[in-house]
Parts: sequence; structure tokens; C-alpha cells
Amino acid sequence: MQRAEVPREPLKITDTTLRDGHQSGLATRLRLEDMEPIAEEMDKAGFYSMEVWGGATFDVATRFLNEDPWDRIRILKRLLPNTPLQMLLRGQNLVGYRNYPDDVVRAFVHHTAEMGIDIFRVFDAVNDERNFETAFAAIKECGKHIQGSLCYSLTQPKLGGPIYNIDFFVKKSLVLQDMGADSLCIKDMAGLIAPQDAYDLISALKKALRIPVQLHTHYTSGMASMSYLKAIEAGVDIIDTALAPFALRSSQPAVEPFVVALQGTPRDTGLDLAHLFKLGQYFESIAPKYRDFLDTTKMSVIDIGVLMHQIPGGMISNLVAQLRELNALDRLDEVYAELPRAREELGYPPLVTPTSQIIGVQAVQNVLLGRYKMISTQVRDYVYGLYGKPPAPIDPEVQKLALKGYPRGDKPITCRAAEVLEPEMDKAKEATKDIAKDIGDVLIYALYPTTGMKFLRCKYGLEEPPAAVKPKTLEDVRREDELIAKAKAGKLVEVETAPPGSS
Ligand code: CO
Repeated sequence: MQRAEVPREPLKITDTTLRDGHQSGLATRLRLEDMEPIAEEMDKAGFYSMEVWGGATFDVATRFLNEDPWDRIRILKRLLPNTPLQMLLRGQNLVGYRNYPDDVVRAFVHHTAEMGIDIFRVFDAVNDERNFETAFAAIKECGKHIQGSLCYSLTQPKLGGPIYNIDFFVKKSLVLQDMGADSLCIKDMAGLIAPQDAYDLISALKKALRIPVQLHTHYTSGMASMSYLKAIEAGVDIIDTALAPFALRSSQPAVEPFVVALQGTPRDTGLDLAHLFKLGQYFESIAPKYRDFLDTTKMSVIDIGVLMHQIPGGMISNLVAQLRELNALDRLDEVYAELPRAREELGYPPLVTPTSQIIGVQAVQNVLLGRYKMISTQVRDYVYGLYGKPPAPIDPEVQKLALKGYPRGDKPITCRAAEVLEPEMDKAKEATKDIAKDIGDVLIYALYPTTGMKFLRCKYGLEEPPAAVKPKTLEDVRREDELIAKAKAGKLVEVETAPPGSS
């Protein structure tokens, strides 16, 4: 076998601090007011791109922060003129949890591009390329960068087996390249990719594709930095990292160790460690405001369960919460055993939003009530084909059970899922005609009619924003620390000095 050439290009870095970094570590709660003061300094860092938007940020900003998500891109674009801004788009699901019709997808992409997003990372929960079509076309119309992205998934502890093998990812990547992708990303949302698998997969992709290859992973299982290093050896063009304070745990690996590890090698990032340190110091200074969102229930910052079951960490906590609510936590082991079985019967979808919830809920119901005695609406929609075509066929028996009496029919669709959806933009414009000032407002409603309308009413002063959206201030934090210090010293803590909003 011929040895691959040693790559000579500097490694490029996408910084995820302002999106995945705080989405993974701090429940997506970072506010624009804490991004603005450091944005201009981040612009000087020399990142290839900065992921600042999309994923859960849109939903959380409107639902919990009372912050207009469009302001966030508009303002960051002004403060970061030299760094391409990147977003995560869930294909036909946009930044929501269901498939939207094509007219909503087109309007959303156009407005997002106009507000300032340069690179659109597009993925689909079942890796069905047809779910990329409308988004790709719209991004191209806007003259922006299309990054086609494949969800990394496994059916066994390592890459391989009948579905998720190298061949699968190479073939799918070639399809995305042919569809017009300007770059390709392997999106390992659960942090499953093992170092040698990263090496083999990136080597194969670099050989097959003419577009740049990027790797996105999470530190969850503890393998991420090792896997990046192997991917770098295999010639990956770009990796995703976060600044140290928002890195590790279930977030991305930290950028700083890569800068030093690669210094003086052909893949030297060229980034300035002292500058990155300064950026990190800033995030340390504001992080205490968000410390209540950090998971401190465990000593371990990595999740060994992910290594054992290949189930994403977030999904495990959802399963535990679900079982606890049903007073059935003692059946967790049965659910772990049921999950791969149900997943196989449902065509081995990747476990990512929203398929992870769909499979998880069904697995719990199968254990508690008997297999497929009860089937959720989402599973029925999924089996019907509304989320796209899963990578493997659905078990015919399960399909029959799921579509028995299903209102749309008992034969699954074979067309692109969005073909069966009616346009919604006109309805959204009509529903918001008395309140929406621009297309951005209409889109907020189109994506989330209930919470979106509530947000718009707060935005235009027709309703008081709920108290819970007020952030903790550094002054609150200081007072809280004083109380803790007093309590530790054994002094009596006076009730009336308790900081406001600290409960
Ligand atoms: Co991620």
C-alpha cells in the first residue's frame, strides 16, 4: 500500500466558544452582552472561522434569554469583520425540532445570510441527502459557503459493521460534494470517534474528496484530543475547538494545547498562545455568572458510559430523567439492552436531535409497557418517512404496527420528506401582521409559534418578560461567595443578606 503524503498545510481552527462551547457546557445560556466586549479581540486571533449561531442558540435566546437571535449575528458581524461567521443548521429542521416546508427553509437561509452568516454547516439527523437539497440551493443563491455535514454514528464500539463503515461515510460525502458542498464535516456530536478510526476515516475522505475536510467532535468520552491528533496526521484540514474555559467536558477539546503541540511542525496553526490566553482570561472573568448551569454533580469530567454504550451523554441523562419520573430507575439496564434493539428495528438512525429522543422514548416504552404496545406519534411520523430515509430498512413488523391507523396512510412515503409539507410562510405573515416589524420577526414565529409569539410580545413591550430571564450579575456572584465563605468558616448566615435571584 502506498503511504499517504505527509500533509504540509497549516491546521485551520474553527472556534466554537460562542456556540457549541456554551451550548455543551452551560446549557446555551451565554448572552450577547458577554460576547460583545471580547469580539474584536477574538477577531484578531486568526481563526479560520467562528461558530457563533444556530443549533440551540436560536431557541434558547428567544425562550429563556429574551434576546433577539438576529441581533446576535448582526452585531457579531460588525465586531468580527475579518473572521468568517459560521452557524449550525439542522437541514430541513433549521434550528427547530421538526421538518419545515421549503418556503420556510428558503426564507430562513436568505435572512440568515443577509444578517451575516458566511459558512452554513448543514446536517441531517438521518444523513438523508434529500433533506439538504433546499438548504443547499438557498445557501448557494446567497453566495455563501455550504459545509455538508454527516452525523458520525456507530452500531458497535468502533467504526465498521454493516452500516457505519468507512465506505458509508465516503459514499455519502461524495454525494454531498456532488450536490455542491464547498467543504465536508464529520460531525461527531457524541464524542464517539476513536483515534485510529479518525485516522482511517479522514485518510479515506482526503483521498476521495477534492473539497476540504473538517472534523467536529466532543470531549465527552475523553478520546477527542487523541482523535484530533490522529486526524491531523491523516491530513484533516480544519478542526473545531473552544477556548479552554469553555472546552473539555461535553464541549470541544481546548485549542491551546494544539497550538503548542503542533508548533514547529508542518501543521503549525500559527495562532498566538499569549493572545488565546488573554481571550481565555476574559471568559474566566464572566464565567461565574453562568456557573449555575455547569454540571457539577460528578467529579469526572468525562463520561465512561459513552465508551460502554456508544449512547450520547445527553441522551443517557434524558433516559435517566424519564425513568426517574416514572419511578422505574431500576430498569435502566433493561433500557440499555433494549435501545440497540429498537434502534436496529428502526433502521439504525444516528442518535442526534431529534432521532435520539424518538428512539429513547420508544425504548423506555418498550421496556415498561411491552414491545411496541404503545408507539409515539414521533415514531409513527418517523416510520412514515417524515424525517427522511434511515440508513437501514425499518423492520417490516414494526412498520406495520407503527402505521396501523396512522392518519396519513399505512404506506411510508419514498419521496423527499418536505414534498408532503404545505408552505407556511404566508400563514406566518398573516398570524404576525400586527406585531412583526420584519421578516426576522416572522421567522421567529414560523419556527416556534408558541414561544416565538411570546418572545415577540415581550420584545415589543406587550408583555413583561418572565423574571427567570434576568442573568445573575457578578455582584450577585460576589455576595454568594461571601455567604459560602462565611458558612464554611462556621459563622451564622443572615437570611436577609441572601442575594436576590440566587435560589
Ligand atoms: Co457539537
